[in-house]
Amino acid sequence: MFLADTQSFSFLCKKITIMNILILGSGGREHAYAWKLAQSKKLKKLYIAPGNAGTSKLGENVSIAATDFDAIKKFVLNNDVNMVVVGPEDPLVKGIHDYFLADSQLKAIPVIGPQKDGAQLEGSKDFSKQFMFRHAIPTARYETFTKETLEQGLKFLETLEPPYVLKADGLAAGKGVVIPTTLEEAKVELSEMLANAKFGSASAKVVIEEFLKGIELSVFVLTDGNSYKILPAAKDYKRIGVGDTGLNTGGMGAISPVPFANEEFIKKVEARVVIPTINGLKKEGINYKGFIFIGLMNCGGEPYVIEYNVRMGDPETEVVLPRIKSDLLDLFEGVANNNLHEKSFELDSRFATTVMLVAGGYPEEYKKGDVITGINEVKETMVFQAGTTFNGNEIVTNGGRVIALTSYGDTMQEALKKSFVAAETVKYQGKYYRNDIGKDLESYFN
Ligand code: AMP
Ligand code: GLY
Repeated sequence: MFLADTQSFSFLCKKITIMNILILGSGGREHAYAWKLAQSKKLKKLYIAPGNAGTSKLGENVSIAATDFDAIKKFVLNNDVNMVVVGPEDPLVKGIHDYFLADSQLKAIPVIGPQKDGAQLEGSKDFSKQFMFRHAIPTARYETFTKETLEQGLKFLETLEPPYVLKADGLAAGKGVVIPTTLEEAKVELSEMLANAKFGSASAKVVIEEFLKGIELSVFVLTDGNSYKILPAAKDYKRIGVGDTGLNTGGMGAISPVPFANEEFIKKVEARVVIPTINGLKKEGINYKGFIFIGLMNCGGEPYVIEYNVRMGDPETEVVLPRIKSDLLDLFEGVANNNLHEKSFELDSRFATTVMLVAGGYPEEYKKGDVITGINEVKETMVFQAGTTFNGNEIVTNGGRVIALTSYGDTMQEALKKSFVAAETVKYQGKYYRNDIGKDLESYFN
């Protein structure tokens, strides 16, 4: 069914399917997808909706929002798109994959990303906690409360030790987790979330959970619903300020591999988290096709799941994809055709590091439209654009996170050195980046 919609030709006696691909999204993650897919011998034409100034060099940007399903349908049919790769969670939680499956003209076109049922792993904290408990996946103890059970929630807080972890159930643009340090603050916060709808409908339910002490990392899985590939692990830097201080951001930099995630630890993650997750999804009749981002706490060598996301991370993608040597489109074809287990999967053993340049003021109010210079002078580093667009011939800032600068190195320090040189080379008004990405990991190399 899938082959019938694509073009094939003979190449060195081997049949190769070539495809037109549409990537949905506009960040550094999507630029990294575009960069990797553009290297595939299976690619015919690449489209990115809506994309950014960086993706326009690798394919054709299409001015359609990633959640405008009707416009996406029209575009896909008019342009013979053979596969849709979904970057962000929003279209997945809103059901883009279900939309395709329910449409007779679209249903043969594979979507990389789960359907609505699987997307609940990210779309509802309560669902994902219940899922983990149903399948004995290690995670923090928790209870869920609503406006009606606010009093019980306040009592539950009294049974916990500080700090307190309060999570809005639904999607809240990465802001829905609050970690107050005193009982008093925690009670005020819970009341605001439930009684005053602090995060709108996202906080109609609130998960309160035990605080886990440890060091965080993320493990990524690509699955066709049965078999899976474990992608390189990465560590993200979420806070805006040096020394992990200040407000949370989408991510200020990333490192892969993670030195404390050794083979023994990853084996534990596979046995206790990855396999039970894939089997759990199957048991519940959830046909999951796409990425699973597993946010983990390493507590003294034992993995605990903090959260699932149903997409790749940003900026983690900017270090994970550069470490995959295999053809990403071939892997996606495996996801679509249920033969991921037959696909070759080779990794690059080098370190990859990325440093995110952001707009002054981010993650609070920031300016857009500042001219960016120096991109062409960057020599030893890959420039993944995030919040950028064109103003005539000039590339200008167009978002809080502007550019991710990814470098390879035989050591983490060598890679970071290149990323920091590039961070000085690229210029725009108000530029800010964290100059301590990776610093906390240096002790693991001594
Ligand atoms: P989440 O959106 O669930 O990833 O939470 C955002 C951040 O809050 C995580 O990256 C952690 O740093 C922190 N966090 C979430 N849950 C816990 C927990 N149970 N214990 C400690 N920190 C947590
Ligand atoms: N960097 C964290 C995320 O993509 O959710």
